[in-house]
Amino acid sequence: MRVGILTGGGDCPGLNAVIRAAVRKGIFHYKDEFVGFLEGWRGVVENQTRPLNAESVSGILHLGGTILRTSRTNPRKMEGGIDKCLASIKANNLDALITIGGDDTQGVANALIEKEVKIVGVPKTIDNDLSGTDACFGFDTAVSIATEAIDRLHSTAEAHNRVIVCEVMGRDAGWIAITSGIAGGADAIGVPEKPMDIDHIAKILKHRHDNGKKFSIVVVAEGAKLPSGEKATQGSKLDAFGHERLSGIGQAVAELIEQKTGFETRSVNLGHTQRGGTPTAYDRMLATRYGTAAIDLVHQSNFGRLVVLRGTEITSIPLKDAIAKTRTISDDLIALADGLQPEV
Ligand code: F6P
Repeated sequence: MRVGILTGGGDCPGLNAVIRAAVRKGIFHYKDEFVGFLEGWRGVVENQTRPLNAESVSGILHLGGTILRTSRTNPRKMEGGIDKCLASIKANNLDALITIGGDDTQGVANALIEKEVKIVGVPKTIDNDLSGTDACFGFDTAVSIATEAIDRLHSTAEAHNRVIVCEVMGRDAGWIAITSGIAGGADAIGVPEKPMDIDHIAKILKHRHDNGKKFSIVVVAEGAKLPSGEKATQGSKLDAFGHERLSGIGQAVAELIEQKTGFETRSVNLGHTQRGGTPTAYDRMLATRYGTAAIDLVHQSNFGRLVVLRGTEITSIPLKDAIAKTRTISDDLIALADGLQPEV
């Protein structure tokens, strides 16, 4: 078979591991040929491709980023965009397309599935908020980076008797914040799922202070809301999928904490460091399982599906179900974090 592959949306550690696994299994086991579309849906719209073979996927397992590069191109917002995608899929004589991406990328995939294109999706986002799967590759790496940063912030915060607010990614769901916050021993965690109560956070920090700990760490997801109910954004520009550029909640929360406690407070935004660099062994393994499952589904003619992790098993669900809603963090996780703090 001739199979196309693309990586769309924000990059994510493990993208290369998915590409490598699908291509290796496809070539060695099924005698497939592969075409890589460059820069997500842009490459499909503009028919920009590169060959993918055993040699071109050699040595990429541990590399961050994506050898196919990526973009947030949305063909549905372009004049004739979907028709151009159909034309380039035909021009490349493709029997199937593997789309590696989050809800935006898979939303476009779904529009093409409705036009009878044979697609298998692979879930990708460090935010870990795609519904239908228990985990997206890249999340474990992002959490490891954030946790290491929180560990490092402890010593400098302690040395200066400061509060440090660490802003992490998480547009609609607080998976990275709650997981790295708990793993890193944060004193308070702000997530998009729950309004932030700054007065309560101030009480926790003062209680710590009164009990001899003169420093504190607060972790906050970029999509957490200010007490006014608004999100902190950088400018008013939206991307092709209508998303605002989030940034600044950490600094806003730091200022409020300093006002309410009188403790010197700093903020740090981890930003794209969470998305860069080499994937963890867990993410390489998950990405490899997803990549091989995707090419297996292609050969079972099981199209319109997204490969997912359920418990410890890889299975698949209808792709349209995964984009229907965001997978937010559970009340249990919020209760776990809250249970670690004193009653104030
Ligand atoms: O991939 C999701 C995400 O990591 C969000 O958490 C974040 O808001 C967004 O990407 C930022 O991505 P970019 O700067 O590439 O638009």
